[in-house]
Amino acid sequence: MKAILIHQFGGIDQLYIGEHPKPVLNEYELLVKVEATALNRADILQRQGKYPPPKGASPILGLEMAGIVEEAGKNVTEWKAGDHVFALLPGGGYAEYAVIPQGMAMLIPDNMSFEEAAAIPEVFLTAYQALVWLGNVQPAYNVLIHAGASGVGTAAIQLVKYFQGTSLITAGSNEKLQFCCDLGASFAFNYKEEAFAEKVLQATKGGGVDIIIDFVGAPYWKQNISCLAVDGRIVVLATMGGSVIEKFDVRAMFIKRAQLLTSSLRSRNESYKIDLTQDFSQRILPGFADGKLKAVVDRIFNWQDVAEAHQYMEQNRNIGKIVLNGM
Ligand SMILES: NC(=O)c1ccc[n+]([C@@H]2O[C@H](COP(=O)([O-])OP(=O)(O)OC[C@H]3O[C@@H](n4cnc5c(N)ncnc54)[C@H](OP(=O)(O)O)[C@@H]3O)[C@@H](O)[C@H]2O)c1
Repeated sequence: MKAILIHQFGGIDQLYIGEHPKPVLNEYELLVKVEATALNRADILQRQGKYPPPKGASPILGLEMAGIVEEAGKNVTEWKAGDHVFALLPGGGYAEYAVIPQGMAMLIPDNMSFEEAAAIPEVFLTAYQALVWLGNVQPAYNVLIHAGASGVGTAAIQLVKYFQGTSLITAGSNEKLQFCCDLGASFAFNYKEEAFAEKVLQATKGGGVDIIIDFVGAPYWKQNISCLAVDGRIVVLATMGGSVIEKFDVRAMFIKRAQLLTSSLRSRNESYKIDLTQDFSQRILPGFADGKLKAVVDRIFNWQDVAEAHQYMEQNRNIGKIVLNGM
């Protein structure tokens, strides 16, 4: 089959479409003809050689896909050839074919395109896991979401609203702030123009936020603690701004009885991902069918233009997801 491959770890010029063995399915798996996949920040790191795929995963980039079941393993009970499905992958989405365990497949709602469906799994499952499984989001919670216009951020804003909470976001341009507010954020701060902690405390009348979803790490650490509510939770999902925190007095966390949580979805085992997918399918997927939730697709590139798509993400230009199709 054809797949997007990498000559050597490095820049966008290392990406090319070449031949790779078609994946082989076992009796509990589905072989899916990929119609669309989507970019994630992790793809850039993997292309650069900084984020190896977990053991046993495809070496091909791509953490999600949407497509048509071509073949179902002989012990598959719920799916058949021709079904339109989308799923999280540990790798292998940038290809003509992908194999998934039957429990990872989600049915594409009638009103949704392959491109929209491909934009959902990684960012919505990450945001759902962070907010619901780890953060225990409740109605009336205040939730601070950093990188609000990112793929994960735009999913998190919608999920906070879905659970009747209030979201506050940070982002790096006024266009992104406006987009996040239109999507459901109640307060938005441009981190390039102002420190966010004081603003967050003002917006929450001094109470602070119950959950912080953070991807930035060290530069935000002290501000995060200072605008966290008592008994609040910080869920760290990445450290895009740096990971070493200098001269931090941990008593600042005791005073808040703060809980620090971290997670990396890709490294979770298959049964965890199946449980997460099943829970998400039951509780959240109906929200897409009835229009309360939507895939936020910024741009669709033909997969032959994958280098341009990676560059677009590296330049922080996307609001929501970048999708590839045409495989
Ligand atoms: N742990 C997990 O399980 C997990 C799963 C999925 C994703 N992630 C992580 O979640 C983050 C978002 O992923 P994504 O694919 O949704 O990203 P994305 O769509 O590429 O968006 C990332 C945005 O983050 C902002 N940003 C970049 N560097 C920054 C910095 N140093 N300080 C502040 N903001 C910065 C930029 O927006 P601005 O213009 O606003 O600066 C950028 O557009 C990534 O770090 C990714 O690795 C973690």
